[in-house]
Amino acid sequence: MTRSSIELGDVTPHNIKQLKKLNTVVFPVSYNDKFYVDVLEAGELAKLAYYNDIVVGAVCCRIDTTDNQRRLYIMTLGCLSPYRRLGIGTVMFEHILNFAEKDGNFDSIFLHVQINNDGAIEFYKKFGFEIVDTKEQYYKRIEPADAHVLQKTLRRKKSDAHHHAFTNGAVNDKKDRRT
Ligand SMILES: CC(C)(COP(=O)(O)OP(=O)(O)OC[C@H]1O[C@@H](n2cnc3c(N)ncnc32)[C@H](O)[C@@H]1OP(=O)(O)O)[C@@H](O)C(=O)NCCC(=O)NCCS
Repeated sequence: MTRSSIELGDVTPHNIKQLKKLNTVVFPVSYNDKFYVDVLEAGELAKLAYYNDIVVGAVCCRIDTTDNQRRLYIMTLGCLSPYRRLGIGTVMFEHILNFAEKDGNFDSIFLHVQINNDGAIEFYKKFGFEIVDTKEQYYKRIEPADAHVLQKTLRRKKSDAHHHAFTNGAVNDKKDRRT
């Protein structure tokens, strides 16, 4: 017998309905049309996971630049329940981590999880994530409505960090002059 294989593939107009179906069964929240329009443009940040050629998981991320930081935000990372604990989540997360490390210019990776999602919290802690905040009433239609913010700090390339600090200084200068 040959070994089971886990592979990642692009999200395309051809298979996006599979992604929608998968997200519907894996996540308690539903995602709007814009989410799926953006996912088609996300390149390496959105992937389907195949287990022996069958779609069983998906990961969708975006780049977040609020608060003068450049962070990778995991919008969804999930796997169908019969296929959990087989390493599929790990393959998806490592792909995202690899992307962020190659880029070299992200401060951190972060996501929200429902506070009772112990499995996901264990999963992310294994990869060095920490609970950095808890948002009350984060979710509108599900219970519990509170979410933890999980974050993993990354190391930025020195040259870019300097550029970033310089740019921030310039922005602050302008602000100071105006006031
Ligand atoms: C969280 C999730 C993506 C993990 O996917 P997975 O394919 O089962 O993860 P892996 O098999 O790669 O697990 C890697 C390690 O994480 C930890 N882990 C994963 N699920 C766990 C659980 N339910 N309880 C405790 N530890 C867990 C274990 O250390 C595991 O290694 P092990 O199986 O050798 O013990 C999956 O449970 C899932 O899809 N959950 C629903 C969606 C969700 O809540 N996503 C998180 C918010 S984006």
